[in-house]
Amino acid sequence: MAASLIDQIGQLRTHFIKELQDAANSKDLENLKVKYLGKKGPIQSLMMELKNCTTEERPHFGKLINDLKEELVSHCENSLARLKNQEMVDRFEKEWLDPTLPGRRGPLGREHPVTQMLNHALDILIGMGFSVRLGPDVDTDYYNFGGLNFAKDHPARDMQDTFYLSTKWLLRTHTSNTQVHTMENFSPPIRVVAPGRCFRNETTSARSHVFFHQVEAFYIDKHVTFADLFSTMDEFWSKLLGEKVKTRFRPSYFPFTEPGLEVDVLCTRCKGSGCRICKHTGWLEVCGAGMIHPNVLRKGGIDPEVYSGFAWGMGIERPAILKHQIPDIRYFTQNDMKFLTQFA
Ligand code: DAH
Repeated sequence: MAASLIDQIGQLRTHFIKELQDAANSKDLENLKVKYLGKKGPIQSLMMELKNCTTEERPHFGKLINDLKEELVSHCENSLARLKNQEMVDRFEKEWLDPTLPGRRGPLGREHPVTQMLNHALDILIGMGFSVRLGPDVDTDYYNFGGLNFAKDHPARDMQDTFYLSTKWLLRTHTSNTQVHTMENFSPPIRVVAPGRCFRNETTSARSHVFFHQVEAFYIDKHVTFADLFSTMDEFWSKLLGEKVKTRFRPSYFPFTEPGLEVDVLCTRCKGSGCRICKHTGWLEVCGAGMIHPNVLRKGGIDPEVYSGFAWGMGIERPAILKHQIPDIRYFTQNDMKFLTQFA
């Protein structure tokens, strides 16, 4: 028994050392450790055999087996440390990087041309003393129409133009919906600019879209006159289009203005001589405007005997199209990087 145990211990050591030398990586080593030192491994079996030894022999062989076990554990640990170190060195060599190489630049976002134009318009108006207020995209029929003095049978209420969500709720067709909201919440002097998205149930084409952006501006105070509207418009359009532009006012009709106007600017391209952009008229229609109708002031809780106001509403896509000579309004909403990256 004793002799056979000593043999077994010797063989086990030899086998282990051989397998240890064959272990190529830390995973092999872990497996080896489990194989020899695990619960079902040969060291454990040797321990079991101790019970066949005599009482005198047992402590001696027990120590021999324990010594072997410690030896194997320490072999495993040393080799594991060495292999792990080597694996790290290999990895560093493989993943070596040159810190002097120039970096790769990630793609940088740009402002959308509509946002650029919108911000430009807002900057100018804020500089003129207007403050920004946002009206709701989803609003009631009252703020979009009724409060703005649209008669019940006005054609703009027709389902053809308006996206109704219910009999009461709709997608606003213009930013003029902010007028009565603002009047209800503030008292004059009111100097507000209200940018935002508008929606119309129209066939999409190169010139019109189901949604677009407008900027509404209005000023309500004592003694606000037509002259204030003209001078403010003149200054605004000159600043927006980057030169002293000529403006032209034509009488027009809006239910919420009295009187109402259509504003044209001298064509920025041909300077009035006539071209494709201005359809050979020399002028570009840029916005609707007018003195706020007394009925609208009244709906907003403002006494039209004491106060008066002017308002205008302009589209944003239109001046952006003119500025960049964009042939189709639909480009704005297609998220095509080839188009969008042109507007640095
Ligand atoms: N809301 C009008 C439209 O979308 C534009 C407009 C005209 C706005 C006259 C105004 C105004 O504030 O006074 O066509």
